[in-house]
Amino acid sequence: MSDINYDALWQRATAEFALPPGSAHGPSHWKRVEQNGLKLAQKTVARTDVVKLFAVFHDSKRQNEFNDPEPGPRGAAFVRELRGVLFQIDDEGMALLCEACSVHTALHHSADATIGTCLDADRLDLGRVGIVPDPRFMSTAFGRELCVELSSSPSRPGSAIVMSIVIGRRIRLSATGFPTSASFIKKGY
Ligand SMILES: [Fe+2]
Repeated sequence: MSDINYDALWQRATAEFALPPGSAHGPSHWKRVEQNGLKLAQKTVARTDVVKLFAVFHDSKRQNEFNDPEPGPRGAAFVRELRGVLFQIDDEGMALLCEACSVHTALHHSADATIGTCLDADRLDLGRVGIVPDPRFMSTAFGRELCVELSSSPSRPGSAIVMSIVIGRRIRLSATGFPTSASFIKKGY
């Protein structure tokens, strides 16, 4: 059960966001993660309240685009700060939300339907930085299905991409379009 003032949450998170409004980790990304998550939840039976809260919180405390080791735990701390202030959620939902936020830059897979949906929703927006999401790194069957759709899209950056210019920085990609550096993934990609 939850009682959530989404408008107030979005206003608060946006007001406190430390990066420019056009950041790759900013509100426009949060909105796409929400849309991806709600689409995934139609089949994954994830908790949509947690998915929507994850979208707004998960990158809300990111401090820079590339070298931020712990945006997830700070996002989870923000969740704990605002619970009871701008939203109410049961203990089970709170645990799922905090876990999803905390691990989202460090973990590829989760067997939990709600956490897996959150992770997949985030990864499905990798196209914003010129990276094709890789089905191998998705947690849910529907997430993998959507990945395949993306990879067969005419707008796909291309499986043979080796280097991509992303926000003024060169990122080495594998033949599948996935970053070759695990540390890069931990930075939020
Ligand atoms: Fe994100």
